[in-house]
Amino acid sequence: MSKMYYRSYAILVLAALVTLLGGTVVTANSPSQAAAPTIRELADKNHFHFGAAASPTHFGDPKYVETLKTEFNMLTPENEAKFCSIQPAQGQFDFRSFDRLMDFAQANQMVVRGHNLVWHQCVPSWLAKGEFSRDEAIKLLRDHIYTVVGRYKGRIPMWDVVNEAIDDSGSGLRDAPWRQFIGDDYVELAFKFAHEADPDALLFYNDYSTEGMNAKSNAVYAMVKDFVARGVPINGVGLQSHFTVGQIDLAGIAQNMKRLGELGLQVQITEMDDRYPPNTPDSILQQQAGDYRALLDTCLNSKYCTAFVTWGVNDLYSWLRDSNLGFYENHTVKPLLFDDEYQKKPAYFAVLDILARHAGDAPILTDEQLAAMNAPIEAAVAEVKLPSPRKSDSKQLAPDPVAGAAYYAPFPITITLDGKTNDWADIPRMTVDNGPMVPANNTTGMQFAVAADAKNIYFLAEVKDGTLISGKHDAATEWYKEDSVEFYINATGNLQISTYKPGVVQIAIPAANIGHSGTPLIAGTNSDTVVVQAVAVKTDDGYIVEASVPLVTDVWKIVPLTLGTVGFQVHLNGASTDSDRDTKLIWSVYDTKDESYLNPSLFGKLIFWKTNKPK
Ligand code: XIL
Repeated sequence: MSKMYYRSYAILVLAALVTLLGGTVVTANSPSQAAAPTIRELADKNHFHFGAAASPTHFGDPKYVETLKTEFNMLTPENEAKFCSIQPAQGQFDFRSFDRLMDFAQANQMVVRGHNLVWHQCVPSWLAKGEFSRDEAIKLLRDHIYTVVGRYKGRIPMWDVVNEAIDDSGSGLRDAPWRQFIGDDYVELAFKFAHEADPDALLFYNDYSTEGMNAKSNAVYAMVKDFVARGVPINGVGLQSHFTVGQIDLAGIAQNMKRLGELGLQVQITEMDDRYPPNTPDSILQQQAGDYRALLDTCLNSKYCTAFVTWGVNDLYSWLRDSNLGFYENHTVKPLLFDDEYQKKPAYFAVLDILARHAGDAPILTDEQLAAMNAPIEAAVAEVKLPSPRKSDSKQLAPDPVAGAAYYAPFPITITLDGKTNDWADIPRMTVDNGPMVPANNTTGMQFAVAADAKNIYFLAEVKDGTLISGKHDAATEWYKEDSVEFYINATGNLQISTYKPGVVQIAIPAANIGHSGTPLIAGTNSDTVVVQAVAVKTDDGYIVEASVPLVTDVWKIVPLTLGTVGFQVHLNGASTDSDRDTKLIWSVYDTKDESYLNPSLFGKLIFWKTNKPK
């Protein structure tokens, strides 16, 4: 079977399974629709806490209330217990929203995970902007924790005491208001105060990108190990689990749970959601279901993992839909178990199935349904349908780019490689801010643009990057471990080829070109078959790369004609420490696993567009 045939076949099979899952098969396999168990029933049966982040903001929506109380036996206040919600003005505590949520939990016999007492975000301005001595700040911290934990003593069995205190690189504590006022021991002081306020509550440290084995989770491990050794009261570690579909390192998570458990600590999955890039077809929801199932299975199989909480109830209210979030623009993403209309998604049935199996009940899903959830991600990403070319801005020299799929490059435009962007005016910019490796609070991102004249194709990358890491590795072989930009071209005429051949080129331009004179530093597969010119300059908030590659080379002859198309891809590598990259952003939606350097069929399209640029 040819690869292409296989792929379209796989998509058909998947589509059929999606249809089945939404309807007959699941209900036919369950005893009857009415008797189908809920997650809550099966969680109870497993003596396991399965929760959702919840907020009284949505209590006006009857379906929300109904779903929350029937499907979950635990809830986490999404924002209501945070410092800025509770003590918006110094010494003035406002418990109204939190109390509403507590009343709801009590009325419905749900366990509450307190979240959180100390976080570098949600700090009220009186505190952030205030000037406090160490002793004053310690008193503020103690008063807050005593007041909040004390008020709910006996009603909240576990608290996230400190949230996200470790720096993303894992090199130590991150900068935070409490740390500035008090010093590094603010973390253990918070645990001490929480323990004094309610000696029976289980106290957790909670963080993101610390689920598997990596530098940051090593730092968490070292910190809590030291706490245990010195008798700082801590009982568990929360693994937030804000994941991207297909990117969960289950073996690493199992290993991390084990080492934390062996310190005598509990582990909980505290904020699970599973995102994916914009424009991804809904068939991705099968693979998302596989992620939920596998992570829950890993938790249930670990004797240390005592709860699994999703960060929200339904997709519509997910924090990932929040347009102000900044780091992840996908307003249609469906990262949770219930869709916008509270329909049960494949991930819901996957969770139900694994809970049923662990309880010794009959499986909910068939082997075929499970196989669909484990299908490779390429099969789940169908071709993005391109809209007709249109310009949203009449000054623009080419139509709007299609996110993740197509970029219209105006010609003829001549660009001078000088690190200045004035000659790129009115050329459409495309943002790249998604990829397989994105730190949760990522601030690295890029915009790119492309143009051509009669001799060259020109590329522009405007990169935002707070920490420039360059020149620490061999520019020819290990450039990808550092800050660098990659442009890819497939000019073979066949956009479906899945291996490199002459005419496919990966052009990697490391930030090490900043301040570098002479022949530019260029790397990437086949990049030596074309002559690339490039400059890189530092900017206030990152760097700019300008590059060109000839239209006529030994391996290709590209003639720009309106709607003429070549395969095209853009990647950004970002590092925030000397050791290795921690960010990989990818433009084309087809490449979800960083495989463009192997497989040109994962590229998007570069489409030429003749412009009549005014002189
Ligand atoms: C988020 C909430 O979901 C948003 O509504 C709010 O605007 C910001 O905080 N890690 C955490 C959670 O520990 O508290 C965050 O919740 C998401 C990231």
